[in-house]
Amino acid sequence: MRKQVAAANWKMNLTYQQAEELITGIINTPHELSADQYAVFAVPFPYLTMVADKLKGKANTGVAAQNCYTKTSGAYTGETSVEMLKSIEVGYVVLGHSERREYFNESNEMLAEKVNVVLGAGLTPIFCCGEALSIREAGTQNEYVGNQLKESLFHLSADDLKKVIIAYEPIWAIGTGKTATSEQAQEMHAHLRSVLAAQYGTDVANEISILYGGSVKGSNAKEIFGQPDVDGGLVGGASLKADEFVQIIQSLK
Ligand code: G3P
Repeated sequence: MRKQVAAANWKMNLTYQQAEELITGIINTPHELSADQYAVFAVPFPYLTMVADKLKGKANTGVAAQNCYTKTSGAYTGETSVEMLKSIEVGYVVLGHSERREYFNESNEMLAEKVNVVLGAGLTPIFCCGEALSIREAGTQNEYVGNQLKESLFHLSADDLKKVIIAYEPIWAIGTGKTATSEQAQEMHAHLRSVLAAQYGTDVANEISILYGGSVKGSNAKEIFGQPDVDGGLVGGASLKADEFVQIIQSLK
């Protein structure tokens, strides 16, 4: 079974006290993770060490940064490097979230560089892709999202690609409450897996975890995660509520 991952994306939310209360609430809400199931928490930079400390010793859990710079050190005021993240035991980095692509002009080319530095530091990229509503309405989403993978990931060897977690997040479903139907999610995930297979072969493509993101809730997670090519979710709003995110973790197959 591929890794099944429930990833929380807290985005730019919570005070330190609220964050500590949330992660403590999640940890203290009874739930199990099987050998193939993982819970990852993408939290704001100031809370990375606190959350990593709280998760210490808890199997199949991890903390993610929500971004990193393309360089590993130097005169880049305000930026954070993968070496810094590695030194505080961060295991994952979310890359290419649509909000960073939109607000901070992150291109597929820049993201290819970020994927390289994250892999180079031995961390796991959670690579985000997805289309705007205008692309979906034009019916060109498969080509558009497939191209995001090609331009940012297809320079990788098969061994390196297998270290990447992909998150498909239709932009029109993010924060809108308008979730993609499980059929829409499965259709795109299957397409992305076929794009991966065309480049790397079916065996490699079948090892890649592809998460769905976009208005995942406790009420819809089971159906979405139950789709054959959906391997969990990247969750925004619902991850800010301890009980609901535990329900989402328990929805993993
Ligand atoms: O990265 C996950 C996020 O973009 C989804 O947000 O609030 O629709 O679950 P939300």
